[in-house]
Amino acid sequence: MGLLKSFFSQCARPEGFLGRVMLWFMNFGHAPLTNWGLGLIEMRDKWTMLDIGCGGGATIKRLLKSSKNAQVYGIDISEESVAKAQKVNAEALNKQVFVCQGSVEKLPYKDGMFDLVTAVETVYFWTNLPDCLQEVYRILKSGGLFAIMMEVIGSDSMWTNVVEGMTAYSPEELKTMLSDAGFIQMEIYRKKPSYAAIIGVKP
Ligand SMILES: C[S@@+](CC[C@H](N)C(=O)[O-])C[C@H]1O[C@@H](n2cnc3c(N)ncnc32)[C@H](O)[C@@H]1O
Repeated sequence: MGLLKSFFSQCARPEGFLGRVMLWFMNFGHAPLTNWGLGLIEMRDKWTMLDIGCGGGATIKRLLKSSKNAQVYGIDISEESVAKAQKVNAEALNKQVFVCQGSVEKLPYKDGMFDLVTAVETVYFWTNLPDCLQEVYRILKSGGLFAIMMEVIGSDSMWTNVVEGMTAYSPEELKTMLSDAGFIQMEIYRKKPSYAAIIGVKP
């Protein structure tokens, strides 16, 4: 595998030195998509929120700033991501911010716990996506929101050829899967160059 390919493959599950470099890049590189996507949501005070596949923790930090007296949880399958997210959110860690290692397939949270769950640039790597969406549904409150943000969509084979184990979905495919999981009021938003956000509500 070429160096570039092994670097980009770190997106899926950052590990070691290359993983740490990738996390640093992603915290900056994903900022425009995340700021745009979070701007679509009417945030309320005192929300309990979760960022799945939290990577280096930049989204957790944004969520904390966007809701007064919030509690923000982060989870990621990668140990390296968890360490970085904890470092980036050190000031609020274990007070308002809680980060742990784990997979979206089996989330260590109670039913109906969250007002908002976010997933930025990560659904591409979730195996058994329909089951994962049901797991997200389980931990949301009634009226809670699930927001998926991504910039690799449908026919984007450039990334899927380079990053092993990556699947690109179209927003419409995700909308159907969210509906199958029980979500309602799904909206698809798009912004150039290739940003997409899909937001659904748990009834
Ligand atoms: C491309 S990175 C995006 C990180 C962050 N959301 C951001 O926008 O910078 C994808 C992240 O999803 C995590 N991930 C992949 N599969 C996961 C799973 N099954 N459960 C939880 N996290 C997962 C990876 O470890 C990685 O940190």
